[in-house]
Amino acid sequence: MKTQKGVNPKPRHQAVAIGKVILFGEHAVVYGQPALAAPVAAVTARAEVRAARGEWIDARTFGRRYRLSQAAERDPLALAFRLAVDYCGRPLHNLELIVESTIPVAAGLGSGAAVATATVRAVAEYFGVRLAPEAVAALTFESEKLLHGKPSGIDNTVIAHERPIVFTKGQPPEPLRVGRPFTLVIADSGVASPTRITVGDVAAGHARDPERYQALFSAIGAVVNAAREIIEGGDPVRLGPLMDENQRLLEALGVSAEVDAELCAAARAAGALGAKLSGGGRGGNVIALVTPETAAQVAGALETAGAKRTITTLVGSATPSA
Ligand code: MEV
Repeated sequence: MKTQKGVNPKPRHQAVAIGKVILFGEHAVVYGQPALAAPVAAVTARAEVRAARGEWIDARTFGRRYRLSQAAERDPLALAFRLAVDYCGRPLHNLELIVESTIPVAAGLGSGAAVATATVRAVAEYFGVRLAPEAVAALTFESEKLLHGKPSGIDNTVIAHERPIVFTKGQPPEPLRVGRPFTLVIADSGVASPTRITVGDVAAGHARDPERYQALFSAIGAVVNAAREIIEGGDPVRLGPLMDENQRLLEALGVSAEVDAELCAAARAAGALGAKLSGGGRGGNVIALVTPETAAQVAGALETAGAKRTITTLVGSATPSA
């Protein structure tokens, strides 16, 4: 390994974090309702920590390399880097963090949380510190707050645990036991939509008309509970109408853009059992429930309808699938 004079010749340390989808319950989860989420291994963030001259962040995917001392005050990557090093009880001195990601940004697949998770894990690797998923989730929640303003914590929690979860804000996640794995097609609308904006708009709506919004949140919570029962009971084909109902409620909340509704309609017309947006909405990704037999035709129809990319994923297999 090449080393620079005066630099600690430690090997590089790398770590990976995978993406996620919200199956049911986004937005209402911010207001205390339960939600269901699952990891998606087809998209990943990767971080590397290595000895350097000075302190640097190389956010390669975003085309930026900068000194830590010059990071913006609200830079979520710098915060994750600093907090993780601090957690390991070491000084942040002569270290470089390199981050790469294949997760589309502002698309509902957990890009920010995955990048922070990979960062925290790479720092822990570098210092030889073992981190439980709970500690990873607690550290990355701080960068989520910078990114999203008012996050529930579901994204960083499912990404830290890498298994399907039932999540209620402020509580430890419960495992979501998938009685029978089911297939989803995830379709990227290509429209970037920062979660901070839609979460902020829902907060404004809630402040204006708390009764209406609380009723919508409760209705979403009821859909989530019904979906959990079906998933755990191993009869996932019955999830379709609940996905459609969740989508209708998200439309009523004002977080579904025309492009989301159009992609959902295209998926249903091609044989999907149900479809909804996933994550913050107003663009981003939609998910469609399919069978192994209809997966390819639904993915094709979504691409014809304008999706920039589709991922077919099996929820509940032993390893989160690609
Ligand atoms: C984003 O993946 C999910 C939202 O409910 C925001 C959050 O829970 O923090 C929209």
